[in-house]
Amino acid sequence: MKILLLGSGGREHALAWKIAQSPKVKKLYIAPGNAGTTVTGENVDIKPTDFPAIAAFALKESVDMIVVGPEDPLVKGIYDYFHDRSELKHIAVIGPSAQGAQLEGSKEFAKEFMMRHGIPTARYKSITSDNIEEGLAFLETLEAPYVLKADGLCAGKGVLILPTLDEAQKELKEMLGGMFGAASATVVIEEFLSGIECSVFVLTDGEHYKVLPVAKDYKRIGEGDRGLNTGGMGSVTPVPFADEAFMEKVRTRIIEPTINGLKEEGITYKGFIFLGLIRVKGEPMVIEYNVRMGDPETESVMLRIQSDLVELMEGVAEGRLNEKELKEDPRVAACVILVSGGYPEAYEKGFSISGLEEASATDSIIFHAGTAMKDGQIVTNGGRVIAVCSYGATREEALAQSYKTADRIRYDKKYFRRDIGFDLK
Ligand code: AMP
Ligand code: GLY
Repeated sequence: MKILLLGSGGREHALAWKIAQSPKVKKLYIAPGNAGTTVTGENVDIKPTDFPAIAAFALKESVDMIVVGPEDPLVKGIYDYFHDRSELKHIAVIGPSAQGAQLEGSKEFAKEFMMRHGIPTARYKSITSDNIEEGLAFLETLEAPYVLKADGLCAGKGVLILPTLDEAQKELKEMLGGMFGAASATVVIEEFLSGIECSVFVLTDGEHYKVLPVAKDYKRIGEGDRGLNTGGMGSVTPVPFADEAFMEKVRTRIIEPTINGLKEEGITYKGFIFLGLIRVKGEPMVIEYNVRMGDPETESVMLRIQSDLVELMEGVAEGRLNEKELKEDPRVAACVILVSGGYPEAYEKGFSISGLEEASATDSIIFHAGTAMKDGQIVTNGGRVIAVCSYGATREEALAQSYKTADRIRYDKKYFRRDIGFDLK
């Protein structure tokens, strides 16, 4: 079959690497892809949100399946765009309908959905400029720190955690006043939950589901989880505390009510569900839903899926996921992200990257995130540049291999964290 994968980051390179291993795949296109994905398939210069261009390309090349990496096209309705048109209907889109994508596209929708289905999550109140007084008063009933979330998509920047009531009240007014444009016209105020987080990925055909290897990501720029939030500095899988007893609770209290809830509400969902979970006093609670795979979790999770991902996705498209097998690699996988110095604030691009061949000859698997080709050279082209992923019998072993390989990759102002997995036992 022919597959078109949408997106251009480390997540997409990892998905492309896994998809390309399937004997079922005759051709893999990545739109737009990056310098790394050219090794696993053919890059196509189309934006993931340009649906007419994607449709024209898919028809011209007889694409059978579209796999959507990022959330934007899903929230904008790519599933429906294909499903609702007779000439495009035969092309499977792996991802939820626009309605299902609201689980990520609107924090208010996600919270209301969780309330309707009794899914454990933080107490909250949804506020607009019409009931701002209620918001200010609700903040007074909470304890520090305070969590404010812009309702809409903000490229990962829409969550503020404020240490004092004063700051929280001030930021609430600023958010409602347009701090994140239309995305923060509604703000969700949440009770702060204290605990350790993990990322659970579920693949569903709307009826049946499979749980992918559980991962943990590291979002802060600095070691010890200090400093600014980033798109992710590394990930590991498995997560020791997500043991059988914990996962049983996740399945019965969160995954099954989510899938059944979508079904009951008539919401079409054939794709990945990303549960951002937090363990509070041993119990799982939902911090957020995303409607796609996580980045940089995918880079380590793909290493631990032994089954053919394309076959699983076919099961999703056909509503026969229950007939497919998901086999996990028993080893640990760890991913370390190499970034551009200065990131997540201002940084320079265009530095040539050397040592990649040497690094590829190691036991690590290299995924590109922000890279580009310039005059036949691979250069840095983003804040997050390269994902260095490795297997190990233990987490320490997998990480040691990734750090060793990371040291072999060279470019000006390279930075990475050397403490990924530090908080796991
Ligand atoms: P997001 O940008 O939606 O991924 O959220 C960023 C981070 O904010 C999450 O990964 C959590 O660490 C934190 N967070 C969000 N909501 C809460 C909450 N209710 N309690 C504690 N931390 C939270
Ligand atoms: N790693 C978190 C995310 O992809 O949103």
